[in-house]
Amino acid sequence: MRISIASDHAGFEQKQQLVDYLVFRGHDVADRGPDSDDRVDYPDYAVLVAGDVAEGRADRGVLVCGTGIGMAMAADKVAGVRAANIVTPEFAALCREHNDANVIALSGRFVELSENEKILDAFLETAFGEGRHAGRVEKIMALDEC
Ligand code: RB5
Repeated sequence: MRISIASDHAGFEQKQQLVDYLVFRGHDVADRGPDSDDRVDYPDYAVLVAGDVAEGRADRGVLVCGTGIGMAMAADKVAGVRAANIVTPEFAALCREHNDANVIALSGRFVELSENEKILDAFLETAFGEGRHAGRVEKIMALDEC
């Protein structure tokens, strides 16, 4: 799978490790930065990953900041993106099955790396449930026009 990933300073260390993990798992990974843990503003990096997903350069996006909250808020502003801030593998599976999330926002400060790896596995391996969920996701996407 083609995956675009980025972080801010608070998520930098885990982002570096998650890039290695995703490559090890056989994914085609585009690291959109940053290249150091110097202080940066998370929306500047969220938009890079969100743009990759919205414009078809990546199948999924992964963002890491302190909590994942700001990254999710920023990425979800980009039309075509369904971003979810996720801190458990169970919610990672549900954001795929029910919401067809295409960007995940992780916490680098409050969730251990090993747990974020499990979260990513669930996010990347769970299919959208279709059926009753499809119309609801269509209604979410119609809000891009508001
Ligand atoms: C940076 O201090 C922090 O605000 C950021 O990483 C993130 O948690 C925002 O939602």
